[in-house]
Amino acid sequence: MSAFIERVDRTHHCGELRSADIDAEVVLFGWVAGRRDLGGCVFADLRDREGITQVIFDPAETDGQTFEQAGQLRPEWVVAVRGRVRSRGANANPRLPTGEIEILADELQVFSRCEVPAFQIVDGVDAREELRLKHRYLDLRRPEMVGRLRARHRLTQIVRRHLAGEGFWELESPMMIKNTPGGARNFLVPSRLQPGQFYALAESPQIYKQLFMVAGYDRYFQVVRCFRDEDLRGDRQPEFTQIDLEMSFVAPRHVFEVVEGMMAAVFADLLGVELERPFARMTYAEAMGRYGTDKPDLRYGLELVDLSAAVRTHGGGGVGMLAEAIEQGGQVKALVLDAAHAPSRSELDRLEAKVKEMGGQGLARARLAADGSWTQTPLAKRISAELRVAINEAAGAAEGSVLLMQFGPASRVNTILGGLRTHLAEQLGLVPAGAWKLLWVTDFPLFERSEESGELVACHHPFTAPRPEDVGELEGDPLACRARAYDLVLNGVEVGGGSIRIHDSEIQNRVFAALGIGPEEQRAKFGFLLDALRHGAPPHGGVALGLDRLAMLLTGASSIRDVIPFPKTTSGQCLMSGAPGPVDARQLAELGLRRKE
Ligand code: AMO
Repeated sequence: MSAFIERVDRTHHCGELRSADIDAEVVLFGWVAGRRDLGGCVFADLRDREGITQVIFDPAETDGQTFEQAGQLRPEWVVAVRGRVRSRGANANPRLPTGEIEILADELQVFSRCEVPAFQIVDGVDAREELRLKHRYLDLRRPEMVGRLRARHRLTQIVRRHLAGEGFWELESPMMIKNTPGGARNFLVPSRLQPGQFYALAESPQIYKQLFMVAGYDRYFQVVRCFRDEDLRGDRQPEFTQIDLEMSFVAPRHVFEVVEGMMAAVFADLLGVELERPFARMTYAEAMGRYGTDKPDLRYGLELVDLSAAVRTHGGGGVGMLAEAIEQGGQVKALVLDAAHAPSRSELDRLEAKVKEMGGQGLARARLAADGSWTQTPLAKRISAELRVAINEAAGAAEGSVLLMQFGPASRVNTILGGLRTHLAEQLGLVPAGAWKLLWVTDFPLFERSEESGELVACHHPFTAPRPEDVGELEGDPLACRARAYDLVLNGVEVGGGSIRIHDSEIQNRVFAALGIGPEEQRAKFGFLLDALRHGAPPHGGVALGLDRLAMLLTGASSIRDVIPFPKTTSGQCLMSGAPGPVDARQLAELGLRRKE
């Protein structure tokens, strides 16, 4: 068999031949996508990464042995075909780029056979994702998967070319690093040479790219694998890829310019779409206020209406729950659906169930009658006419409109109404096809309170610079400090995040102190960074974009698993290889580890 390859070269791939090639003598290698016996001839579709070509074995044109062998071909056998290109004439297949021609075969070489595949190698295959992941090498043969990975490849190439052209150097940083807790949970790697010691797998090159700047390597980038041991879902993987970059002597606008130029190149080259620049910008506070989320989808309206002021003015309008929400520092907000989009009673009940799934207690609602009175709500009888009128006005509601309301702590109100907004936009078909909305969200808070521990944690990471006018609040009111941090949002998905960094070791110390990381802990964990900051650190900043998420959105995939060749499941497993798996006691002993019984 290998003798065949010694003797014969491939002349074309399976997506290449056209009418202009008629009469050419060709050799194609590929997988049998299907075989049909028709009119005394054998037809086989030959597939490779580039496409499909029809091959015909005609007993009048080929020797008996080859013809007989062709009749035995089965799906996914790997073969070579030598033959002549001829026209398919009236039988042309307009759905195939090679559909005008076929190969009249002289010679067939079978390299290997295939067991009956677990599913058909076709687009839109009706197979469970578990099965596709188990036999990923088969799944990756499907043309739609090939298309996605081709797009991913091109995306990476465009990014590399563009950034190199902008003067960025592609430099690597270590993946096995010191464990420096503070962001996502790290995967740990035990050291054999230093028993009892561990490396962490880098959750991002953050500290190293800052050290590149301190070392004077202004304009660095890396297409880099990052590792995070976090709860997984459709747009999160435990190992994923970032387009990571860092620049010196910059303000956010310089980072934005570079990223916008890069995204424009990606959209133009990959999709032929011209992006409007500069991208829209919105502060975190505005995004939360108007959309209830820090990653608003701007492809449609359906903004949240803040009714808190009206409720405050009217002292809750006789409704204890509303008054209480405001008194306790919370908010009252609503989504307003006009008469054309107003849900029925049963739809409202389904929406309420959705709200409960999202952790809400219920869905206060009201339907407006012609005179502005409220129906279908227990609030109708209790609310004062003044507050009702004020709410109708604030909401811009007219006859037939439905108000969907939430009240309570701002974070819960926003999470629920923000989630409901996305859900309703999909349900009501408000998301325009083919629209691309990019947005920078800026001025994130520097710190937030961890829901798990109640402690102050960095919203982005602890190296993010506070806004200069907020530095004075670091000790007194840290939650009021805003960060020089920004996210890039594409169609409601966070595709990137970055910040201007702290380049002053004194401010870095104060931020660590606000986070409750004392001097000893600072030295132990971040000593090398603090030392570097005292050795001539330029002002610097950067950003990292999620390559997988970008590829997902650009290819219209619904999960990042569909643009990652060998992904893990949401429980962190590789169904194909069986990772993670057990290791034996000897291996553990070598590492100085013992399994707890
Ligand atoms: P951040 O943590 O915001 O920033 O990550 C940057 C971008 O990476 C993508 N991303 C992920 N993609 C898939 N699976 C995951 N588990 C996952 N986690 C993050 C997102 C996100 O916007 N060092 C900083 C960047 C900086 O400050 O320059 C960082 O890692 O698209």
